[in-house]
Amino acid sequence: MADITTDVLIIGTGPAGSATAALLSTYGVENMVINRYRWLANTPRAHITNQRTMEVLRDLGRDVEDEAYMFAAEQDLMGENVFCTSLAGEEIGRMKSWGKHPLSRAEHQLSSPSLMNDLPQTFMEPLLFKTACSRGTQARMSTEYVGHEQDENGVITTCVDRLTGKEFTVRSKYLIGADGGNSKVAEHAGLTFEGRMGVAGSMNILFEADLSRYVAHRLSVLYWVLQPGADVGGIGMGLVRMVRPWSEWLIVWGYDINQPVPDVDEAHAKKIVRDLVGVSDLEVTIKSVSTWTVNNMYATTVSNGRVFCMGDATHRHPPSNGLGSNTSIQDAFNLAWKLAYVLKGQAGEKLLDSYSAERAPVAKQIVTRANKSIEEFGPIFKALGLLDSIDPVKMQQNMDARCNNTPAAEEQRAAIRKAIAAKIYEFDAHGVEMNQRYRSDAIVTDGQPEPAFTRDPELHFQQTTWPGARLPHAWIFSQDGSKASTLDLAGHGRFTVLTGIGGQGWSEAAKVVGRELGIDIAAHVIGPRQHWQDLTGNWSNLSEVRDSGIVLVRPDHHVCWRRETISDDPVAELRRVMTTILGK
Ligand code: FDA
Repeated sequence: MADITTDVLIIGTGPAGSATAALLSTYGVENMVINRYRWLANTPRAHITNQRTMEVLRDLGRDVEDEAYMFAAEQDLMGENVFCTSLAGEEIGRMKSWGKHPLSRAEHQLSSPSLMNDLPQTFMEPLLFKTACSRGTQARMSTEYVGHEQDENGVITTCVDRLTGKEFTVRSKYLIGADGGNSKVAEHAGLTFEGRMGVAGSMNILFEADLSRYVAHRLSVLYWVLQPGADVGGIGMGLVRMVRPWSEWLIVWGYDINQPVPDVDEAHAKKIVRDLVGVSDLEVTIKSVSTWTVNNMYATTVSNGRVFCMGDATHRHPPSNGLGSNTSIQDAFNLAWKLAYVLKGQAGEKLLDSYSAERAPVAKQIVTRANKSIEEFGPIFKALGLLDSIDPVKMQQNMDARCNNTPAAEEQRAAIRKAIAAKIYEFDAHGVEMNQRYRSDAIVTDGQPEPAFTRDPELHFQQTTWPGARLPHAWIFSQDGSKASTLDLAGHGRFTVLTGIGGQGWSEAAKVVGRELGIDIAAHVIGPRQHWQDLTGNWSNLSEVRDSGIVLVRPDHHVCWRRETISDDPVAELRRVMTTILGK
């Protein structure tokens, strides 16, 4: 007999665990979350928050999305990515990033109702955690996961209350391992991994200093610093990162993983800060120093029976491209509705298999990309001539050579520009963030082949209603003058039917099939004199079905089926599709 029972026990209150708890509570599922520490994120690790993550927050409620914007540095402040010898020293190059380039900004605006922003983890985590607790999550801090055992009906998890030192057990129907990069849950669940941990050594130095005079003319969240040692370990180069504009900062600096972990005392930390800022007497307050390793490892399956892992527990990689917290929150969005449907008896347990089928490929994709982004700093060092010597004098001479009036120098300048421009795959890779298309039994094909990407899929998001893709965003307008995104019509824990004039049969079918299955299927007819109108024609251009057709959307905004036109028997068609998806 367990001491406590709950439907879902979540280990970890990081972005993955807190997002899952918030979503489950929003869907009305009993859940409990534990954290071995008494605090939430106590350093501002993740910060780049992409549009897909903001769409999850928007789905949790406009109040949640708005609170994130309130604490975030807005997109306009993020994007002049600078490469320099120090903040006060020479600037070598610059590239617009995170949607700052007008063409990229247009793509962002056309893709989503939500905006990319910079929200440190010290704000994101409390926001998600607060949302969870205020909606009914049971949260226990200073509580450590020790182990679990599962049988066909549930999971018994052993925990330790770190205040009393006493062990207790929790009986849950499902267990979620959102316990970070050293996940014990993943280990105990026997998940298999590819890749390796500890590829390079890195340190974070959090500090306060007013650096506004060095950045005011090139506002950015990332300043990349080339100094002797900048290519050792770390994330590709020395980094000065804005945490709060423009007085709180984080330096990421590498160390040689083959050497002992450096003991960075306050004096050493101040020296690194002053070197990278380039001001020897800079007034600086060191807030914390921590070391960590760059990892290159992902789980090939992310669940085992009743145990589901997510976030860094399943994808362990450097912060390049800012994918960690984002992907963790998106893992949660994929799993939470499925658990809710199964726990409410609205879907068969088979639906849960689709979590691993859909998210394990994403784990591999982002780990591979983040590590590749580190390698892609190499050409910048090479073009500057910094790989030819370790003598600082010679290195400086090689860099100076680019200023000469010679054909070789002109070639060198072109090579530097090319190498910096190629970093777009880290700093403005909209496709990496948004192009996930799922393949699983929770997606029903309409028989059409997957549309090929017409542009680089890492750089450009391509909207499609091909089943498996995220529902395209288009603004639509109500007769009372308000506007909504197509994504706003979907989500909120429900399946959604989108159709047009001539497709009223699908709306009727949604009612009938919803009643039969005991679920609420939302239905919207978009067209003239309907509640929602496609006044700009954007939805028609993106829907890829005729007016009488249907786009069926899952609670996580992914299209799960479509049909070009009305069928002879919409009820039978929708019943076939819904029972397949729900594994009934
Ligand atoms: P996370 O590690 O955050 O949380 C794990 C939770 O489990 C914690 O609450 C922990 O206490 C708990 N726990 C662990 N073991 C336990 C046990 N045995 N019992 C109970 N509780 C236990 N990402 C991003 O999206 N954008 C970005 O810009 C950046 N930038 C960035 C910069 C730097 C410098 C770093 C180091 C990292 C980033 N990241 C990032 C990555 C991001 O921080 C990371 O991916 C997320 O924190 C992962 O969230 P999780 O919830 O999976 O794990």
